[in-house]
Amino acid sequence: MTTNGSNEASTGPAASAAETLTVIDNRTGKRYELPIAHGTIRAADLRQIRTDPEDFGIMSYDPAFVNTASCTSRITYIDGDKGILEYRGYPIEQLAEKSTFLEVAYLLVYGELPSKEQFDVWHYRITHHTMVHENIKNFMSGFHHDAHPMGMLIGTVGALSTFYPDARNIHDPESRMLQTYRLIAKMPTLGAYAYRHALGLPFVYPDNDLSFTGNFLNMLFKMSELKYTPNPVIEKALDVLFILHADHEQNCSANAVRAIGSSEPDPYSAVAGGIAALYGPLHGGANEAVLNTLRSIGSVDRVPEFIKRVKNHELLLMGFGHRVYKNYDPRARIVKRTADAVFDVMGRNPLIDIALELERIALEDDYFITHKLYPNVDFYSGIIYEAMRLPSEMFTVLFAIARTAGWMAQWLEMVEDPEQKIARPRQVFLGPARRDFVPISRRRGKAEPAAPRAGRSVTRRAGGIGSQEAARPR
Ligand code: CMC
Repeated sequence: MTTNGSNEASTGPAASAAETLTVIDNRTGKRYELPIAHGTIRAADLRQIRTDPEDFGIMSYDPAFVNTASCTSRITYIDGDKGILEYRGYPIEQLAEKSTFLEVAYLLVYGELPSKEQFDVWHYRITHHTMVHENIKNFMSGFHHDAHPMGMLIGTVGALSTFYPDARNIHDPESRMLQTYRLIAKMPTLGAYAYRHALGLPFVYPDNDLSFTGNFLNMLFKMSELKYTPNPVIEKALDVLFILHADHEQNCSANAVRAIGSSEPDPYSAVAGGIAALYGPLHGGANEAVLNTLRSIGSVDRVPEFIKRVKNHELLLMGFGHRVYKNYDPRARIVKRTADAVFDVMGRNPLIDIALELERIALEDDYFITHKLYPNVDFYSGIIYEAMRLPSEMFTVLFAIARTAGWMAQWLEMVEDPEQKIARPRQVFLGPARRDFVPISRRRGKAEPAAPRAGRSVTRRAGGIGSQEAARPR
């Protein structure tokens, strides 16, 4: 993948003579030729630009990596202007229509779609790693009844590293693959356990006769029946949503997984960091935030007033906008279509009308047009999850289950990349110059009043999972 959209697969040889950038340093009058490869210059090449031998050399300053490639990758390609998303070269639309999540996970991890024989082995390996150690169940039982399931997931996935000390052998390819099977397989089990814990329901063991997604529904919704049979429409819709969320190149959480992974801990620790990054409302937590927004708007006639507040910069319209997409997110289009199939089975979610009106007004509005703000994947997904009777706290957990395939593909690629080292950015220091220590008796600072002692709140959190009906798809 390249930053200039050329979608080439390899870093290739050094740039030819014509592919250079000429830089003239006006401080010294010196001229430098910097090679350009795949539309990028190497930031380290700037270091030679210095005023004298003592000078550190020029650095690039790019808070939030707005225009910095941190790696080469062969996994996911996005053309944000055209609204194109491809996994390993396959358009997301084709994968959503013709593939399954488990097959897509294989594609992300290994780089090719599996043959029937390869898929059968992959399927066997994933389904035979879905169980978790009984102590993990005990560990999860210790969480407060209204603990946010994403907080539970961060803690529990981090704790998995203590159950699999062999995972520290990150330079052993066999160990890396074993942890890959384990993480992809166990994430739905942990997500479902977090849900059942909040409801005070017994945990449901995985059923290996079911598909990856069917088994997840089983672990969420099985009650007293001997065998849970997922509704095929819901199973398919959730599988499509998992495909859409499986990877998205160097997003905040993939970057977190790579950054943590670069210091060479086990992948459970790295993925726990990825889940933490995903939790935030600007990333995967946006799907939960969208639902809260739609509920707070309440009715279609209040949409114009809400849009006015967004344009006044009082609020963000969650589920809109993207760092990379400056066009309609191709995933959002597929999610919108999937909603109808789910509504046919589960009944129409009335929040869809507010969402459709928000989209209609936003897409015609000058503010959204000039800022290139379009619906992203999170705008409609929460409405579907809610129609499936899932509480909003669980939405980002579903994202994490799917994204684990992408995180592992990104982590595997990073570990095998000879160019990668410990991630350690530079800074531009703007703090005080060197000064001498002053004894406390001679310091003049005025103290803030001491804060009142914070007591532990015993109030039940409004909207916790436990406050919702334990419903399940019919
Ligand atoms: N609503 C209103 N204005 C917005 C929005 C929004 N959702 N997103 C960006 N803007 C405005 C922003 O105020 C700024 O305006 P101005 O130039 O007038 O100050 C301009 O657009 C550029 O925004 P930015 O914050 O510099 O853009 P960014 O690339 O740093 O942020 C984003 C990308 C996704 C964090 C942001 O669009 C956002 O906060 N969206 C809402 C949260 C959301 O839906 N996140 C899910 C992203 S997709 C799934 C995923 O990756 O997890």
